[in-house]
Amino acid sequence: MLDNINAKNVPIILAPMEDITNQPFRTLCKEYGADLMFTEFIAAEALIRDAGKSKIKCLFEDSERPIGIQIFGHNPKSIVEAAIIAQEYNPDYIDINFGCPVKKVVSKGAGAALLKDPDKMVEICNLVVKSTNIPVTAKTRLGWDNNSKNIHEVVLKLQDTGIVAITIHARTRAQLYGGEADWTLIDEIKKDNEIFIPIIGNGDIKSPEDAKDKLTKYNVDGLMIGRASIGNPFIFAQIKSYFNNQTYSLPSINEKIDICLRHMQLSEEFIGEYATMHQMRKLYPHYLKGISNIKEVKMKLQTTKKLNEVKEIIINLME
Ligand SMILES: Cc1cc2nc3c(=O)[nH]c(=O)nc-3n(C[C@H](O)[C@H](O)[C@H](O)COP(=O)(O)O)c2cc1C
Repeated sequence: MLDNINAKNVPIILAPMEDITNQPFRTLCKEYGADLMFTEFIAAEALIRDAGKSKIKCLFEDSERPIGIQIFGHNPKSIVEAAIIAQEYNPDYIDINFGCPVKKVVSKGAGAALLKDPDKMVEICNLVVKSTNIPVTAKTRLGWDNNSKNIHEVVLKLQDTGIVAITIHARTRAQLYGGEADWTLIDEIKKDNEIFIPIIGNGDIKSPEDAKDKLTKYNVDGLMIGRASIGNPFIFAQIKSYFNNQTYSLPSINEKIDICLRHMQLSEEFIGEYATMHQMRKLYPHYLKGISNIKEVKMKLQTTKKLNEVKEIIINLME
């Protein structure tokens, strides 16, 4: 689908997010129209070690397609080995993470640290493309820091490796997730006639208006949504409605609660009650945003120990 993008049908994509974009959440995002989704990142070394948690992260339902499995690592051989394992799950894409800013990842030379060594990025992409028969994509940032924004050079190099798309999160590693995303370099890249690879723009798309603004200003080949989708899978339908009809509706409180309950249900089926209790706690504030006078309820949700009791508290918020 990535080579079939046009201005009227640009895919709206769910970003890979650790501990967020698991199967239950992806199921909801798909229902609301996400055109392409990615798993959370999976450590190459862990996948090779056959770690149970990493294998679970590779699982998906056919109904979620098209889907990409994202892997990260620092050693080209390990990344290739992990990509071959990921391929056995038969995803539509294998995505290589060159953007993670987290210290424990970059200190090992993985994620965004690879932006300091574009030739190694090329080596990794070349090897993964040659060793697998599934389209390969990459996700990265503008550069390591403000003094080394080398994304233009990186895109020129990576597009010759045979990967089929590059996602650019419009921040440097040094910015982590703070400050404003700066799409200027995405603009420069999209205007460069030598660049033929599809570019997916990412960073600070928080609303349908933002999505339209980014698409019209920067002419990207895909729009990727991260944080704005957390507790808000509605955003995919909203963006599409806005693109097609110049209007969209906000979910009612009852709709938000309904989706929160469905998320809990799907999660319970997928990872069981105990893990669901933990994973969902950070999501309640997102789902319940906009409901007034519920400070105490929110606190109670963090301490209640049985999922059924949590559900009851949430159902009682319905109007
Ligand atoms: C909680 C969280 C986890 C993330 N995990 C990943 C990840 O596993 N792989 C990845 O490539 N990016 C990851 N990201 C970065 C997002 O994919 C995205 O690039 C970033 O949030 C910027 O997009 P946004 O402004 O739409 O949120 C993560 C971001 C957040 C907030």
